[in-house]
This record gives sequence, C-alpha cells and structure tokens, in this order.
Amino acid sequence: MNSRERASTAPVCRLCAGPVRECVDLGRQPVSNAFLRPQDVGSESFFRLAVGICADCAMVQQLEAMPTSHMFRADYPYRSSSSDGLRRHFEQVAGWLRDTELTDPADLVVEIGCNDGLMLRTLGAAGVRHIGVDPSAGAAQAAAARGAEVRVDFFDERSAAEIRAERGPAKVIFSANTISHIADIDEIFRGVDRLLRSDGIFVFEDRYVADIIEHAYFDQIYDEHFYLFSVRAVDAMVARFGFELVDVEHIPIHGGSLRYTVARPGVRPVRECVARLIEDEARYGIGEHDTYVRFGQQIDRIGADLVALLTDLRDAGRRVVGYGATSKSATVTNYCGIGPDLVPYICDTTPEKQGRLSPGAHIPIRPHEVFADPYPDYALLFAWNHAEEVMAKERRFVEQGGRWILYVPHVRIV
Ligand code: SAH
Ligand code: TMP
Ligand code: ZN
Repeated sequence: MNSRERASTAPVCRLCAGPVRECVDLGRQPVSNAFLRPQDVGSESFFRLAVGICADCAMVQQLEAMPTSHMFRADYPYRSSSSDGLRRHFEQVAGWLRDTELTDPADLVVEIGCNDGLMLRTLGAAGVRHIGVDPSAGAAQAAAARGAEVRVDFFDERSAAEIRAERGPAKVIFSANTISHIADIDEIFRGVDRLLRSDGIFVFEDRYVADIIEHAYFDQIYDEHFYLFSVRAVDAMVARFGFELVDVEHIPIHGGSLRYTVARPGVRPVRECVARLIEDEARYGIGEHDTYVRFGQQIDRIGADLVALLTDLRDAGRRVVGYGATSKSATVTNYCGIGPDLVPYICDTTPEKQGRLSPGAHIPIRPHEVFADPYPDYALLFAWNHAEEVMAKERRFVEQGGRWILYVPHVRIV
C-alpha cells in the first residue's frame, strides 16, 4: 500500500475530517440493548467496537458505527424510569427548566430521546407546552401513558422542521444520554438550528470522558455511545455547527456526566467554567492519544482479573449472579468472554428484558424477584452506576452473607 492509499483508508473524524488514531479495541460486540429470544440465537448483528481520538479536534469516537436502525427499534428495552435516582434527577431538571426558561405559557420545550417520559411528564403535569421525539415506539408509548406528548420518530432536520411548522419554535431543546449516540450528529444540529428560537437554549447531558478515564469505566463504551464527549471537543463541535457553548455543569449521573448549555453565538454570556474545564482537560491529558492507550492497558488488566475471579469462584462451587442487565454488561461479558458458565443469569427489574438472553454472551435475564430465591453467594454488579440505590435496597443480601463484586476501576469484592 502506498502512502496515498493509506491516507484514503485511514479513519477520519466524523466532525472535522481530521485523522483519527485508534486507541482502544473491545473486539466483536453485539447491539448492546438487543436482548434476544432464545429462538433468535444466530441472528444477531455484530460489529468491531473500537475507539479512536481525532488528532485535530480531540473528539473520541468509535471507528465503526452500528446503524441506528439496529439499535433504536420499536422493542428497544431500556427504560429511564427503572431507577429512582434517575427519576429524582429528571424531576429536578424539569423543575429547573420550568423555573428559569419556560416561564411564559407560550414557551415550547422539545426533548430529543425522551424514552418513557421521565422528564416530560413533570413538565406536562405543570402545563408546559412540550413534545418528545423518540423512535423507540415501546418507550414512547410508556411516555404517552404518563401524559407526555410524543412523536415516534428520529430527531433530524426533517422532523424538526415539521415540529416547528406545527407548533412554532422551541425555547428549550433538551436531551439526555442521546446526543452522543448519534454518529450523524450534523442532522441533530441542523434540526436544532431549524427549531430553536433565536434566544433559546439547547441543553444536553452526556457521560463525561474524563470520568470514564479517571475511573476506568470501560463498559461505558458500547454501540450507543458513539462519541465520548469532552468539553474541548464539544466546544469545537458546536462552533462548527454555528452555535456557542455557554455553560457546562458536572453532574453525578451514570458515574459522571456533563450538562452542556448551547446557544446561538453572542446571545447568552459564556460562563468562565467552560474555559476552566478545557484547561483542566489539557492538564489531565484528556485530548492525548497516550492517555487512551494507557486506558486500554487498564481494561486488559480488569478483564483478566475479572475472569480469573469468576473462574475461581465457580471452581470453588460458589454461586455468582449478575445484577442489572445493563447495556454496559454487553461490553463486559463480550469483551471478557463471560457466558452462563461463569454467570448463570442476570436479575433485572425491566419486564422487557426478562425471559430474554443477553446480547452476544447469551446469559439468561431473570426477574428481580429471583435474586432472593435463594440469594447467591456473590452478585456481580453490572448496574454500578446505581450502586447506592441498589445496595440500600439489597441490604438483606449482605446481612445474610452475600458479597458484591465490582470491576471498575479495579476488580474487588465488597
Ligand atoms: N433520555 C433518556 C433515554 C436515554 S436512551 C435518559 O436519559 O434516560 C436514548 C434514547 O434516545 C432512546 O430512547 C432512543 O430511542 C432515543 N434516540 C436515539 N436516536 C434518536 C434520535 N435520532 N432522535 C430522537 N431520539 C433518539
Ligand atoms: P443503566 O445502567 O443503563 O441505567 O441500566 C440499569 C439496568 O439495571 C436496567 O436494566 C434496570 C436495572 N436495574 C435493576 O435491575 N435494579 C435496580 O435496582 C436498578 C436501579 C436498575
Ligand atoms: Zn475531529
């Protein structure tokens, strides 16, 4: 291959077309939320889950995208309302938006990826004009049942233009844990540009790559998390689409997230924390390829330690059960090669996941009630982002001798 051919096949940044250097390879992975029926084994889609960083704009991104049509289908099983912590969080967000931005009865809020309506139902109940956009029909139906107005659709330039024509421009566009999922992010920003009022704000929350690196949260990398956002890369991204990043707030959701506030340039004052966080990121090497190479080495260690521990426990005749059939667990089980021989089943409260097999690893998902019937010796906590809530709820498990297994930032029994 001559250098010209190499240049034409090297991965390029989805945002700035700069060169993307690979740093983490998590191997062959399935669609993380495609919990399958036993009769559907053999029909799964897989892709290579690898992450690289752009040498120009520092956006961390996957090298291959799983098509969104495979991920967000009518039977997409994730439900935000499966956690009390998230319920409280989205009630707070709704209250904050209502008190600060949505003060006029004419104001409209649009939520991208509203899922089962945790955020919108609070605003709807307060009489705020709203509409959610989400392609996952099952989740959207659950939102509608809670009194939220929902359009079962992808948010893009077309749907945004239609919403504007029907309802007028939006004062606020909100999105949580969705914007980073969309590889074709220019569609999102073209839609926001169509729909957002000139003085409006676009607020989105997503996992923070600095927290992922600091705590070795490697299982936050799965098909849906196409981009791992940093302030530096998001600042450059929104500028590229004609917007300005005016505020950033660190929030403790999903192990550490940021809430970004974006406006049209010059419309809102830019808070000093934006520049400060970009400086902090430079100090911690968040834009450096080497940082992610070291992260990859840490992932190898965690994987080897976890498999060794689970193998020892199995060989010693101990019962280990998975707790929380998270999308993260797809990365862990498929990367480490953990199947039903090491973890015979995973308990989960989500009816849509129960009775199914975990993607790729084919570990059966069983109802939460099975957890105590009888309690296992060890529970591998895949839902570590809800650890406080789960451990408080499962005090009896520990009282009768059960132990938790955690694997990030390192493998340990607590
Ligand atoms: N906001 C919720 C749900 C996050 S899961 C929360 O934070 O808990 C991501 C959601 O985004 C899914 O419900 C998925 O169907 C939806 N989604 C994915 N692509 C989308 C798009 N282009 N437009 C709107 N919603 C989308
Ligand atoms: P998440 O990590 O993507 O938010 O998914 C959490 C999963 O864990 C979801 O499938 C619901 C499940 N879960 C339980 O089974 N029990 C619990 O107490 C909590 C909080 C979550
Ligand atoms: Zn780039």
